[in-house]
Amino acid sequence: MKGMIASEMDAETLLAQAAALVADERDWVANAANLSALVGTQIPGLNWSGIYVLRGETLVLGPFFGKPACVRIALGQGVCGTAARRRETIVVPDVHAFPGHIACDPASQSEIVVPLLEGEQLLGVLDIDSPRLDRFGPAERAFFEDLAALLVRSADWP
Ligand code: SME
Repeated sequence: MKGMIASEMDAETLLAQAAALVADERDWVANAANLSALVGTQIPGLNWSGIYVLRGETLVLGPFFGKPACVRIALGQGVCGTAARRRETIVVPDVHAFPGHIACDPASQSEIVVPLLEGEQLLGVLDIDSPRLDRFGPAERAFFEDLAALLVRSADWP
């Protein structure tokens, strides 16, 4: 299943849908909520999709699709805090092999975290979890990086 973005549409179509969803709105909460729901409902094999926003030195839970999750993650902690501090995407094929991984949902087996960057400024992270090992390949990485860029430019950030 790795390499498969969605069962009924390709990445390009899904990105076009995402762009249409945020086209007429500049509120980051609304756009993050809708993109999280789009990912969670349209891409198979996921159990959580959402964002954490940067507040000082802490990532705070933002709009998401999935079970309730950890609310605050310090920069440098877990996959989210590590991706945020490094300002780079982290793909984790097996979360149990990532030292310091924060298990919000024990069902999660693999994860991808993409930093939300507006130029040099870190706004937060996009976090996607899967109950399957090794769910995120190069196609998924490219897709979620494109989606993160879309989310950043779609909204006015506090
Ligand atoms: N697993 C993440 C925590 C966030 S939840 O997956 C929603 C981490 O290690 O940072």
